[in-house]
Amino acid sequence: MSGGKSLEDLGVSSTILAKIKEAGFKTLESVAVANVTELASIVGIPLPTAHRIVTKARELLGLTLKTALDLKKEKGALPKIQTGSRRLDELLGGGVEVGTVTEFFGEYGTGKTQLCMQLSVNVQLPRDRGGLEARAVYVDAEGTFRWERVEAMAKALGLEPEKAMANIYWIRAISSDHQMALVEEVAELIPKEDIKILVVDSVTGHFRAEYPGRENLAVRQQKLNRHLHQLSRIADVYGIAVVVTNQVMARPDVFYGDPTQAVGGHVLAHAPGVRVQLRKSRGNRRIARVVDAPHLPEGEAVFAITEEGIRDIEE
Ligand code: GTP
Ligand code: MG
Repeated sequence: MSGGKSLEDLGVSSTILAKIKEAGFKTLESVAVANVTELASIVGIPLPTAHRIVTKARELLGLTLKTALDLKKEKGALPKIQTGSRRLDELLGGGVEVGTVTEFFGEYGTGKTQLCMQLSVNVQLPRDRGGLEARAVYVDAEGTFRWERVEAMAKALGLEPEKAMANIYWIRAISSDHQMALVEEVAELIPKEDIKILVVDSVTGHFRAEYPGRENLAVRQQKLNRHLHQLSRIADVYGIAVVVTNQVMARPDVFYGDPTQAVGGHVLAHAPGVRVQLRKSRGNRRIARVVDAPHLPEGEAVFAITEEGIRDIEE
């Protein structure tokens, strides 16, 4: 995958393009890493032409020398999807970021699914209201997505409910293999349908059910890693927000430290992205904490799950 870019974008004549393909170069990546001299001789083109082609491929893939300032401009300008709670947004550095996998993990009832549905609605808002004027894909591995809830959240924001519901593509994943295949298929939809958020709720459920216990841990972890890699590649290549949930059970056998440091809680610990732990508080209040993210402010944010959806707490 190259963000929808292909060899055709090299802008070379159809004769040269055909030769490049015949020589076995199928992707822009393969051209970008080719040795110029070899490319020239295999394809049968002059050296300067080969050089131009390799340079162009690298440009198309964004593999060019950059300054730290360039990085700041690119990264700093990354759009965010707001959550509905200003405090939670601040904790996340403005909201859920595109180009990144964000994981919400916590016990049952901590608001993971509510946040996913809220973000699927909010992504549709205009930019000045914290959205990206785009659509959502919701991969539902638990069967807990509720259109009624989406309708209520949309109404509360003054969006036309039917329109908002039509902008969320929903699909049920029935096994881990199905889930991985779906994500691959859905990727094709992303540029065509102007998708800016892909939700996988939950990302771990099927894997845990299919590979239970310690004896299966290694296989489960390996497969899950593949899935997570696939998801971060999609976030990166398509520049969309990927939001995943991970139910983590409190461990009764842990008496000190954090009791939700968890059965399977380390599963995603090494995957790139932002990890947000959710905890229950009084009534409809929930507490969010970002873990292992040196670029984000430390601390916690309290938010509420209300009739309208995710909101700041009233004081
Ligand atoms: P698991 O999937 O079981 O791990 O939980 P979760 O973290 O996904 O929890 P979820 O997002 O489903 O949050 C459930 C909580 O949201 C409930 O305990 C309710 O407090 C709240 N909630 C869900 N639906 C509504 C609703 O329609 N109105 C209001 N006010 N609160 C709701
Ligand atoms: Mg849930």
